[in-house]
Amino acid sequence: MHLTKEEERIYDGEFGWANQICMKILVRLGELFNATKLIPISSAHVSGVSYKTLGDAPIDFLEAIANAGVKTSVKATLNPHGIDKEYLCKKLSSDICKKQWQILEYFNKMGFKNSLTCTPYYLEKLGRGAHLAWAESSAVVYANSVIGAWTNREGGPSALAAAIIGKTPDYGVHKTENRQPKVLVNVETSLRNETEFGALGIFLGKILEDKIPVIQGLQGASQDHLKQLGASLASTGMVNMFYRNNRKVKVNELEKISVEKKDIRRAMEELTTTATQKPDLIFIGCPHCSLREIRQIADCIGTRKVKAETELWICTSHFTKEKAWKYTEKIEQSGAHIITDTCAVVTWTDKLGIKTIMTNSAKTAHYAPTLNKAETTLTPLKDCLETAFKG
Ligand code: F3S
Repeated sequence: MHLTKEEERIYDGEFGWANQICMKILVRLGELFNATKLIPISSAHVSGVSYKTLGDAPIDFLEAIANAGVKTSVKATLNPHGIDKEYLCKKLSSDICKKQWQILEYFNKMGFKNSLTCTPYYLEKLGRGAHLAWAESSAVVYANSVIGAWTNREGGPSALAAAIIGKTPDYGVHKTENRQPKVLVNVETSLRNETEFGALGIFLGKILEDKIPVIQGLQGASQDHLKQLGASLASTGMVNMFYRNNRKVKVNELEKISVEKKDIRRAMEELTTTATQKPDLIFIGCPHCSLREIRQIADCIGTRKVKAETELWICTSHFTKEKAWKYTEKIEQSGAHIITDTCAVVTWTDKLGIKTIMTNSAKTAHYAPTLNKAETTLTPLKDCLETAFKG
């Protein structure tokens, strides 16, 4: 791999061990994927911030690297961690919360912003063609496919290293030749809501492996629908992007796959492991809700009240919550909780006694049985809200 003079000096340790380690992580990764150089990035996004998923082992490393004085050199954001300030931190043990605040402090010391969201693309407008080093898989697919930015699916350590160095190895979807579609997917049924878009992603992720698809039949899909599609596509597969009805593509040269109504139905059925109408938790906001989704939820709630002994969480970033204050006040008056900085999957729902989760997110329904030890019901937003409000 070719390094500039300055990169070599960092690699050789002239700027301290912490910068050197970051550079070594990037160079090793680049060598693994035959990159010939590092390229500058406009932002880095680190996942694995929740103490629940991180565990104890990496905390010492974070402490050491933060205390070594390294600083982020590009805009650097963080995925959700395990608690919020207002609701969950009062329900979870002080030991857990203390560890979580400590982790955040180390990231802050390095210059990471307290974004604590898996939808960093709502924080700031990104340019088409911007090179990024993002580690949240749902955000990676959204950035590449909806925004037109360029990012590989980073791991937590490589995104951290990229944030410090301000560069990433030039391989994968940073290169035009690796952004070529290989499969033409024809969706032969009309998808009626966000949950069916999510189910499509789950279905395709399993069969596409890492082959980039052009997906036909997504007419009328909103950005929120595409967000669900991308999040679940990345949950079951390694694809980092998709195209929609791209007219420039020579479709005759592509492998072809058809998706029928029964495929979507089966994917949804497989993600529903309980038929309970009294779930311990109804969870909306995976990936974190957009302003549009919060408005939609507020409109749907009207003046109704959440029925007794029902937990309804709407998860979003504190940034979106502030922007949506007109709607969030109304939602909170209903008895629902708007929870920021975390989500049901990366917090300790099991410690809160939650054994069944109803959600409109295929990604959550996919992960909750293992990460939350919970039974799941996957059903559209409208039905989730009906369950929360019907008396
Ligand atoms: Fe975000 Fe949590 Fe889903 S981090 S993508 S809301 S699992």
